[in-house]
Amino acid sequence: MTQGPARAAQYIREEHLQRATHLLADMTLEEKLGQMHQVNGADGHVPDDLAEAIRCGHVGSVINEVDRQTVQQLQHIARSESRLGIPLLIGRDVIHGFHSVFPIPLGLAASWCEQTLQQAARISAQEASSVGINWTFSPMIDIARDPRWGRIAESFGEDPLLTSVLGQAMVRGYQHADLAEPTAIAACAKHYAGYGASESGRDYNTTNLSQHDMRDIHLPPFRAACAEGVASVMTSFSDINGLPASANDWLLRDVLREQWHYGGMVVSDWESIAHLTIHGIAEDRADAARQALLAGVDMEMVSGTYIQHAAGLVAEKAVPPDLIDQSVLRILALKFALGLFDQDNTSAELPTLTKDNLHAAKQAALRSCVLLKNDQATLPLNKEQLNRVALLGPLSDDGYEQLGTWIFDGREEASVTLRQAMEKQAEAGFVVDTLPVLPTARSVDSGAFPEAVALASAADVAILCLGEEAILSGEAHCRAELNLPGAQEALVAAVAETGTPIVLVIMAGRPLTIEHLLPKVDAVLYAWHPGSMGGEAIAELLMGEVSPSGKLPVTFVRKVGQIPMYYAQKPTGKPVTTETYVSQEDYPVRAPQTSLGMASFHLDAHFTPLFPFGFGLSYSKFEYGPPVLSADELAVTDILKIRFDLRNVGPGDATEVVQLYVRDVVASLTRPIKQLKGFKRVALRAGETAEVEFELPIRELAFYQRDGAERVEPGEFRLGIGGDSTAFLDAVFRVVTS
Ligand code: GLC
Repeated sequence: MTQGPARAAQYIREEHLQRATHLLADMTLEEKLGQMHQVNGADGHVPDDLAEAIRCGHVGSVINEVDRQTVQQLQHIARSESRLGIPLLIGRDVIHGFHSVFPIPLGLAASWCEQTLQQAARISAQEASSVGINWTFSPMIDIARDPRWGRIAESFGEDPLLTSVLGQAMVRGYQHADLAEPTAIAACAKHYAGYGASESGRDYNTTNLSQHDMRDIHLPPFRAACAEGVASVMTSFSDINGLPASANDWLLRDVLREQWHYGGMVVSDWESIAHLTIHGIAEDRADAARQALLAGVDMEMVSGTYIQHAAGLVAEKAVPPDLIDQSVLRILALKFALGLFDQDNTSAELPTLTKDNLHAAKQAALRSCVLLKNDQATLPLNKEQLNRVALLGPLSDDGYEQLGTWIFDGREEASVTLRQAMEKQAEAGFVVDTLPVLPTARSVDSGAFPEAVALASAADVAILCLGEEAILSGEAHCRAELNLPGAQEALVAAVAETGTPIVLVIMAGRPLTIEHLLPKVDAVLYAWHPGSMGGEAIAELLMGEVSPSGKLPVTFVRKVGQIPMYYAQKPTGKPVTTETYVSQEDYPVRAPQTSLGMASFHLDAHFTPLFPFGFGLSYSKFEYGPPVLSADELAVTDILKIRFDLRNVGPGDATEVVQLYVRDVVASLTRPIKQLKGFKRVALRAGETAEVEFELPIRELAFYQRDGAERVEPGEFRLGIGGDSTAFLDAVFRVVTS
């Protein structure tokens, strides 16, 4: 992860700034404020008032217009009918695909693969730019440790390093090497910052974050995205320690501008500036505009307080005019960097839903699915031995639900469902009996259960494809319970009665609490919402054409009451161990009240997660040799090399995501019991051994100290490698003062 101070968005070059400065000098205040104003599109047409506003220079960006001709009409008005001919930013949420839909970001994160994320963003940009979109509000790089929060689906999970690396990969994918390339679109790191810490996993809720957690957990992915040159940053809806992000001058000026020297543009979230009056920190819309302008929000998403009040605020000297100029300069520079002033055609007009794009979506889904359980090698299914398969469940044949949340432009008709894919697999000589059993994933209508049980009884294996509808995750869609909705769990129990082996495939936008289902099923493949080609990918994994390689980007809890639960927890002063843990059942009745010898756990849930961060099985077994360190004493400026052998014991070819964890044993502030400091996918043939090497710059062990500085502290560090976050830290090295 690039930890160095973030440079200005390197896509914005000196030439762009010069041209922007020159243009700025010609602009009236009214035209400047127009550039800071984003309006919502009108769904495929150009209303007169919108056309007139653009002609008068009152609009800098339009969001949510995806009709190519309409976009071209909007750009024509802006460029040919306004005084200065300034083109528009055309914004759209292209979160995990445009027409070709990739797995949801939480699923993409389970690939632990930069190339996969970069390619997904590149293809999304190619397809989106085909209608004239030149700005997307992605990647979402909020650290998410609460699966009740619907937006965990859009995140890359709980870890700052994984989120940083994957967020940077998406920035590269969207923005291409040169923003002026016709298929490049400006990316937007969101939601700055700490949004994932919304209390109780309820969206838009209060967040209270220490400097410690803000600096070490929630800010690093944004710093990495800025260092990668992300063209824009979006403020979150959140009230952060009493100050909502859109009025948070500490976040927007002290950190983003002064400390990170970020030169890109800041956009508010949808009406989040007007929301300041609802948060109760702004008297009225004018005061909201004043606070957001002083804090440093350059463009306002649709609430219109800037265009309405900013001129007055400048006139009454409540807002210095040069703040307006700085914001407009950043907006214009981005438009010059995008080549919008120099290109006639506003869209690349590449075809979408091409074979290659859908193939890439399938490859991403293949790498995103996580094999959580596989007793008696139930999987892969052997087509030579199969006679009959029962494929049951409401998500087994639903091309819309498998697309997941935030797919404004996804094409359901392009989806390949698991039913379709398994029927194709069955051409090899077995029968697939399919039945949705429940009309929807939330239905409680068990009328078709007898038929489902009969099909399962007659089959060699029952594949149950269950989970959440797409609408149950994503923005504002949070859940207080995380079980399978409706009668799905009853369906598992009913089919389990038949004794037929069960393969449970789950499509969901978050980790679900499935502990009680595990004893009833033989294998579990977690597919998230796998996108357009999810069905084909899942079928190929179940039939063993490819071994699962996904790893969890987020901890799976046993019960909702354990949340938040994450691997990088602090030691506490009374850590739980297998020795100190006592389950509720084992507490003696009338045990005397005592706090002696007790430790940090819940009485009614085992203290370990159901599945830990980084966990995922494959169809092979991997053996790790001991890590060999290049040195056992290093200075802060050194780079530690860690080498080890990885062997694919077999039986088949497979890919392992090897993970490097480090612990700072003693420091001036409490440090996590371990932190991910490196990962890579290693493909090995059965029986093959490879030497794997990590390079760990010691400076990446820095953390924020009480004085606010970021330092590596000398002392002992422990290190471990493995296939998930339970890796034992069996190597030791010391950092010495240089
Ligand atoms: C929404 C979301 C944000 C999105 C924006 C535009 O409310 O919070 O992620 O980019 O509005 O759709």
